[in-house]
Amino acid sequence: MTTLDASLSGTFAIGGDLTVNRLGFGAMRITGKGIWGPPEDPEQARATLRRLPELGINFIDTAESYGPYVSEQLIGEVLAPYAKGTVVATKSGLTRTGPDQWHQLGRPEFLRQGAIQSLRRLKVDVIDLWQLHRIEAHTPRADQFGAIQQLQQDGIIRHVGLSEVSVADIKEAQRYFKVTTVQNMYNLVSRKAEDVLEFCEANNIGFIPWRPIDGGNLESTSPAFKAIMDSHQASASQIALAWMLKRSPVMLPIPGTGKVKHLEENVAAAAIKLSDDDFKTLDAIGRQG
Ligand SMILES: NC(=O)c1ccc[n+]([C@@H]2O[C@H](COP(=O)([O-])OP(=O)(O)OC[C@H]3O[C@@H](n4cnc5c(N)ncnc54)[C@H](OP(=O)(O)O)[C@@H]3O)[C@@H](O)[C@H]2O)c1
Repeated sequence: MTTLDASLSGTFAIGGDLTVNRLGFGAMRITGKGIWGPPEDPEQARATLRRLPELGINFIDTAESYGPYVSEQLIGEVLAPYAKGTVVATKSGLTRTGPDQWHQLGRPEFLRQGAIQSLRRLKVDVIDLWQLHRIEAHTPRADQFGAIQQLQQDGIIRHVGLSEVSVADIKEAQRYFKVTTVQNMYNLVSRKAEDVLEFCEANNIGFIPWRPIDGGNLESTSPAFKAIMDSHQASASQIALAWMLKRSPVMLPIPGTGKVKHLEENVAAAAIKLSDDDFKTLDAIGRQG
């Protein structure tokens, strides 16, 4: 029988003091089409959330803009009061005007209001990990980073993360606060963020790859990939997750789903241990895209 236990992925201490199982959950998919409004099947979305603690998943990624508000509200409704050791990471810095429409907004008052409202929706006294969804181009960076520094000083947020940033961005932000996580797009076949991942590893910053299973579209692209899938009796997505977990000890994948069945398939990847040879083969296949 397949083992379903996220703790098999190992642990990482976010900010040095919030220890989570590395295989987490992305809560963007418990919303409607275009990440807008309520999910098509709210009971399935609730069941997916309820299953998380049973599977050992204690790291959940969300954002006020998912829905907007829907993902945070469902998490608060279903999981609060949270099982001990659960870390819910959220984000602000994007506004929504309709399905699939996202607009960056980094004005200090918007970021502050976002964090305070996230507290209420998530039903927590402090946000364990708050991430700036994007560094916005039209608001001075000092204003955005200064607002975050203030949120931390006021005890509204505990640790700070960034999203879709370069190494230079991280270094700039580090003048204002400790950067504890970075969330960039990264998966077996999308490797643009390798330099950022290497910087995170060298500085013990958690690296949260978004779109870790390439939107559920991964397939075996070669006989060598297929042979590895067959030897582990695993899907391409499961092998890709196992590869990411082996890629770096700071890697915190957050595959997203609104379905219990898919959640369980994704968690099963924590039990897959790839050999060094399998890892190298997959690395080479992935770099070809
Ligand atoms: N920082 C950012 O800018 C940013 C951007 C995008 C996402 N994120 C975060 O990253 C998380 C992951 O990204 P993502 O959700 O876009 O991509 P993903 O995890 O690579 O893929 C999710 C997609 O794959 C499907 N799926 C999941 N498990 C599956 C399985 N076992 N078999 C078949 N299909 C499966 C899901 O559909 P079903 O719901 O039907 O299972 C969903 O459409 C998000 O949930 C969100 O928390 C962050």
